[in-house]
Amino acid sequence: MARQSLQIELAERPKGSIVPGQTFRQRTVAAPTEADLKDGQLLLESLYLSLDPAMRGWLNDRRSYVPPVGIGEVMRGNAISRVIASKSAKARAGDIVVATIGFREVAILPETLVEPPFPLPPNGKLTDLLGVLGPTGLTAYFGMTRIGQPKPGDSVVVSAAAGATGSVAAQIAKISGARVVGTVGSDEKVRWLKEELGLDEALNYKDPDFKTKFKEATPGYIDVFFDNVGGEQLDMALGRAKKNARFVMCGGISGYNAESPYGLKNISSIIAQRIRMEGFIVFDYIPEYPAARQQLAQWLGEGKIQRKGTVVPGGLAVAEGALSRLFQGANTGKLLVEVKSPDEVSKL
Ligand SMILES: NC(=O)c1ccc[n+]([C@@H]2O[C@H](COP(=O)([O-])OP(=O)(O)OC[C@H]3O[C@@H](n4cnc5c(N)ncnc54)[C@H](OP(=O)(O)O)[C@@H]3O)[C@@H](O)[C@H]2O)c1
Repeated sequence: MARQSLQIELAERPKGSIVPGQTFRQRTVAAPTEADLKDGQLLLESLYLSLDPAMRGWLNDRRSYVPPVGIGEVMRGNAISRVIASKSAKARAGDIVVATIGFREVAILPETLVEPPFPLPPNGKLTDLLGVLGPTGLTAYFGMTRIGQPKPGDSVVVSAAAGATGSVAAQIAKISGARVVGTVGSDEKVRWLKEELGLDEALNYKDPDFKTKFKEATPGYIDVFFDNVGGEQLDMALGRAKKNARFVMCGGISGYNAESPYGLKNISSIIAQRIRMEGFIVFDYIPEYPAARQQLAQWLGEGKIQRKGTVVPGGLAVAEGALSRLFQGANTGKLLVEVKSPDEVSKL
């Protein structure tokens, strides 16, 4: 019997949080085969699917840096994928690549949606392709090195610092010789940042004394704020900014499910402290990905970057439920769903 492929489609635009079983619809279709391949295309199966806070934004029918996912369309997403067959010079059958395959078990993609295989460093893991060496690691790299530009002795604060992007951004700032403070949502994450990643200070924003501790942790004010969270934490950082501070506007997860945005109270600090606040999207740097990956792989190999990840088992069917974990802080490092074990032999 021909192989079946599960796919997850957008059923309705959520108001507030994603509702598993309602926001998306799961559908099983006949999997494409090698016979369907045209020149410049690859037949792929998904192994590890990336879950990203940005996915919530792609569900809003609003102007952004990519078009929204349409109702009835397969949910957009990147996955570490195995090439089953190829009519492209980009990768060969058996190669492991990162591809924008979406929430699908099997698909044919044009080569433009497939990245060429990247060799892992000796201590590398397959999942690093979507972690330190993937889009979140690259986001941390470009945001911190191009916009933040920390110098030795600078005071750097990173929000969501135990997440996929934040943990790498914080460690890059440490490599630059800065004094680094991370904010996170649990005491366990505080311990990981201080004891294993070597951050100078880490604070749990759920602590009732967080505001006082944030002030105490930034005695000489902040040179670089790498923001993944927005809202109240961004407001606090604005209030603690040093003159000529750089604010790396990476994300604002605290507002992604909110129906009305948080109103910043310290916005005038931008003027008073001559803050340079700059947003960016990692895609802006695509031509520079190979060199950046090389640097990140070197740091990973040298042990200068440590990582953890959260891999949710259960196949593609659990992906829509797992996505909400990002908003509950259930992940440390990169959140992935294991769609298929890489050790399982393909039956296509
Ligand atoms: N600009 C770009 O090109 C780009 C690219 C990739 C990602 N991003 C942005 O970078 C940020 C991090 O993304 P990621 O993929 O690395 O995810 P992540 O940090 O691995 O996961 C999200 C983390 O955010 C924290 N969080 C969730 N809700 C929160 C809230 N209400 N207040 C404070 N913290 C909250 C949680 O950790 P706690 O337990 O600490 O709360 C959670 O683990 C997101 O804002 C994302 O949109 C931007």
